[in-house]
Amino acid sequence: MQERSTMNPFTLKDYASPEYFCNRNSEMAKIINALENQRNLTLSSLRKMGKTGLIHHVFNHLNRTSEFDLIYFDIYYTSSLSGFINKFGTSLLTEEESFSEKIKRMIKNFVKSIRPTVTYDSLTGAPTFSFNVDNETTGIKTIEEIFGFLKQRSLEKPIVIAIDEFQQIANYPESNIEALLRTHIQKLLNVNFIFSGSDKQLLTSMFTDAKRPFYQSTEFMHLEEIPANEYSQFIKTKFKNGSISIDGEAIKDILTITRRHTYYVQYLCNKLYSSGVNKIDTETVKQTFYNVLNENEVYYSEYRDLLTKQQWNLLIALANEEGISKVTTSAFIKKHNLSNTATVRRGIKSLLDKKLIYKRDMKYFVYDVFFAKWLSRL
Ligand SMILES: Nc1ncnc2c1ncn2[C@@H]1O[C@H](COP(=O)(O)OP(=O)(O)OP(=O)(O)O)[C@@H](O)[C@H]1O
Ligand SMILES: [Mg+2]
Repeated sequence: MQERSTMNPFTLKDYASPEYFCNRNSEMAKIINALENQRNLTLSSLRKMGKTGLIHHVFNHLNRTSEFDLIYFDIYYTSSLSGFINKFGTSLLTEEESFSEKIKRMIKNFVKSIRPTVTYDSLTGAPTFSFNVDNETTGIKTIEEIFGFLKQRSLEKPIVIAIDEFQQIANYPESNIEALLRTHIQKLLNVNFIFSGSDKQLLTSMFTDAKRPFYQSTEFMHLEEIPANEYSQFIKTKFKNGSISIDGEAIKDILTITRRHTYYVQYLCNKLYSSGVNKIDTETVKQTFYNVLNENEVYYSEYRDLLTKQQWNLLIALANEEGISKVTTSAFIKKHNLSNTATVRRGIKSLLDKKLIYKRDMKYFVYDVFFAKWLSRL
């Protein structure tokens, strides 16, 4: 990694440090307030809006006071209870903080009872623990052990556990995982949870459907775009610190082109920062943006083969409209040469399922901001 002073300030990683993180002060205060008052919290947003970053930002802040023990794990790539246990167990066994002797003893006993196998990532060298969960009964037993361990440990200090991409558990083949986790979570007095995920519909139904175990068990928070004035200021300052000037119109263009969707703002700014231009105007933004689209062209055009012709045309139509609600009207269908209402309905469903589009305030948008712009040029 480069020296801090010359590091590109527009990070594309999960989280760098508070210095490279824009705003989110009220969101952070709200999360901390929930945790300090023993309320669990559910954090949702569109993909790449900044949930994971925010969790790390909150943890970074909480770390300073050592008020809580902090545990984070991401279950995006898990597809069953055993995957969940491996992630959970690994996060418990690989924390970096210096533990008290008492906790170290607890860990020893815990490990004895669950007998994990350790492997090391060939690239990063990071340890991964796997637990011998070959059937559901052992899985349930291991979950009990884990929660038993947490209960003991939380007597020493309160614990906060963030489970990222939590909606995944709804896809596990075992039928009672939601209920199982809810029961254990409920019993832990000194442990609070942040459940985070991007599938708003699924997360909402998990937590607001009276028939499901997590019903009304958490406070909700939906992460929106960073306010334009906050982001503008951040962008301006970061460029200025790198001795690059950027005019107000150019910043406005960045925020418009990207719909203020965090990852895309960061990406475009990252590219502009590294472009070598030290006086950025709207023309530089336009040019850099087109370069980004061209770089991604190979990847975008792959989609043409993955979709039917109807779906592809519908996607282009939606990209051109930049947010439209009336997709089954004859005006829309005629304008974009889409065959008929039934095909459009099916197409919309399929594009939603594939997460290529999302619906917001009754309007449809192509999810990937850059892809949308590329499509609308076709
Ligand atoms: N407040 C912020 N200031 C600056 N950069 C941010 C901020 N929030 C997020 N980012 C950056 O934006 C990108 C997307 O953020 P992040 O990965 O946290 O989103 P996410 O909602 O968790 O996405 P996903 O749904 O893919 O998990 C990352 O590169 C992250 O570093
Ligand atoms: Mg994330």
